[in-house]
Amino acid sequence: MKIIALLNQKGGVGKTTSTVNIGAGLCKLGKKVLLIDLDPQANLTYSLGIQGHDLRKTIYELLKGQVDITDVIVEKDGLKVIPSSLDLSGAEIELSGTAGREFLLRESLSKLNNLDYILLDCPPSLSLLTLNSLVASNEVYIPVQTEFLALQGMSKLLQTVEIVKKRLNTGLEITGIIGTRYDSRKTLNKEVVQKVQSYFGAKLFKTLIRDNVSLAEAPSFGQDIFAYKPDSNGAEDYLKLCKEILKREKVD
Ligand SMILES: Nc1ncnc2c1ncn2[C@@H]1O[C@H](COP(=O)(O)OP(=O)(O)O)[C@@H](O)[C@H]1O
Ligand SMILES: [Mg+2]
Repeated sequence: MKIIALLNQKGGVGKTTSTVNIGAGLCKLGKKVLLIDLDPQANLTYSLGIQGHDLRKTIYELLKGQVDITDVIVEKDGLKVIPSSLDLSGAEIELSGTAGREFLLRESLSKLNNLDYILLDCPPSLSLLTLNSLVASNEVYIPVQTEFLALQGMSKLLQTVEIVKKRLNTGLEITGIIGTRYDSRKTLNKEVVQKVQSYFGAKLFKTLIRDNVSLAEAPSFGQDIFAYKPDSNGAEDYLKLCKEILKREKVD
């Protein structure tokens, strides 16, 4: 079971889009996948059209120890999802006095088996929720928008991962960098990809996710890209990325 945190403290770089569509793609390729929304903005939850009854029990109640993990998992087109809600924005303060507060998610996930991948959609901050994700994960993927300032803030991010690795989770590794919103017509985008490549080497996935309007539209229909526009560039790119992920797994 691989547990992967999609992390970048910058907002709008494609964490949620990548979590949803890598999850859906791996599911399409026959893997058993659980997605966890750890962002109080609950973008992933809404992107998949999860609402109403399904939001009575969320990651918030799970982290507070009020419910069992099996009670918070929602099924959505073959994908398993643990939704989030705005309540989660209070968790930071409410849990700050709890002993072992960085380990709450890891403990909950330890009760799960029978899954191939768990993908964690992190909030755009290096907060207690992000710490919980990093402590619970084996791997980190960093989505990077192939635009100006793509690497700004990167050293802080890498430092945070290193600290968690040293103190709380020795097995943690950054294993994948995902170039997002790529436009080959823009010289700047190409230059940024080269920069990211020279910084991260082989960790950068060969598959770049192109800028594609269908990817931005799909959430408003509560669908992943494969359900919304299976013929789009977005669907092509995320499926290719998933195949690359599975290929790397074989090499490991
Ligand atoms: N490859 C892409 N092409 C076009 N729009 C994208 C792409 N990836 C993400 N977006 C859009 O960009 C915005 C930010 O993406 P999102 O995944 O929510 O980022 P994050 O979770 O890092 O904040 C969203 O409106 C999303 O629909
Ligand atoms: Mg997001």
